[in-house]
Amino acid sequence: CLAGGPATAQDNYPNHAISLVVPFAAGGPTDVVARSLGAAMSKTLGQSIIVENRPGAGGTLAATHVARAAPDGYTFLIHHNGMATAPALYRKLPFNPLTDFAYVGQVADVPMTLLGRKDLPPADMVEFIKYARANGNKINLANAGLGAVSQLCGMLLQEALGTQFTTIPYAGTAPALTALLGGQVDVLCDQTTQTIPHIKAQRVKLYGVTTLDRIKTLPDASTLQESGLKGFEVKVWHGVYAPKGTPPEVVAKFNASLRAALQDPAFTQKMAELGAEIVPEAKQTPAGLQSWLQSEVDKWGPIIRKAGVYAD
Ligand code: MLT
Repeated sequence: CLAGGPATAQDNYPNHAISLVVPFAAGGPTDVVARSLGAAMSKTLGQSIIVENRPGAGGTLAATHVARAAPDGYTFLIHHNGMATAPALYRKLPFNPLTDFAYVGQVADVPMTLLGRKDLPPADMVEFIKYARANGNKINLANAGLGAVSQLCGMLLQEALGTQFTTIPYAGTAPALTALLGGQVDVLCDQTTQTIPHIKAQRVKLYGVTTLDRIKTLPDASTLQESGLKGFEVKVWHGVYAPKGTPPEVVAKFNASLRAALQDPAFTQKMAELGAEIVPEAKQTPAGLQSWLQSEVDKWGPIIRKAGVYAD
C-alpha cells in the first residue's frame, strides 16, 4: 500500500498456496516446466505453488477454467502456443486469449522432436518422408488434442508431406509417449523437455528436430528442414497468465518471482538439460507476453485457417 494508506489484501500476498493450472496430463512437457518453475518460485513467494493438471480439449478446458477463476492471485495458468492457436482451431471458444487474462510473462522456448516407435521401418527422415507418403492414413499419429503443440507440429508435417495420417488424441503427450513406447501408435511430435531421455536411451526413433538450426542438446540430430522439409519450424513458447482483473500489484509480485526463478540455477540447469532456453528479459514481462501473444495469434490464425483444421 502507499505509505500511510490503508492496508490491503495485496500487502500480505501471498498468504496461502497458489494453484498453477497445467492444461495437459501430469508428467508431460508442460507439466515438467510448471513443476520446476513452481518449485523455484515458491522460494521467493514463501508459499507453495501447487500444480493442478486439468487436461482436455487441447488445453482449452484449463484456459477456460482460469479465465473464469477468481482474480485474487491464487490461480494462474501456464500455457504454450496453444493459447494463440485456439481461436483459429475452435469455432466456439469460451475465452478470448487476448482479452480475458492478466499477463505475467514468458518462461522458456522449447524445440520439438519428430519421433517414431522403435520398430517403425524408416531409419531416418529421408526414408520417413517416402514411407509417410506411401502409407498415409495407415500411419497413426498421436497428439494431445486440438490446440496442443503436438497437434500443431503434426498438422504442419502432414501439410509439408502432402499426406494425411490417422490422428489419435490423448490428454497430453505423456500418455501419447507411453503409447509410442508401447508400440500402439507410430509417430509423435513432442517437446524435448519430455523426449530427450527417451531419445538418449534409444527407446524411440528420432527423425529430426523442428528448429531451423540444430540444437545443442542433440547435436547429431538433423533438422526437418535439412532432410527436405524446407522452412519447417515449430518452436514452443510458454507464458504464465492470471484471470483478468487480478490486481496489478499481485501480478507484479508474481512476475518478480517468475523472473527470479528464470535465474535460479536449479531451474536453469534443468531446463538446459531438457533442451529448453530461458527467454530473454524483454519477454519475461507482462507487456512482453502480451505483445508476443498478439503476434502469435496473428501468425497462426491464417496458417490454421488455410489448413482447414478446426472443431465446432
Ligand atoms: C503438447 O503437445 O501441446 C504438449 O506437449 C502437451 C503436454 O504438455 O502434454
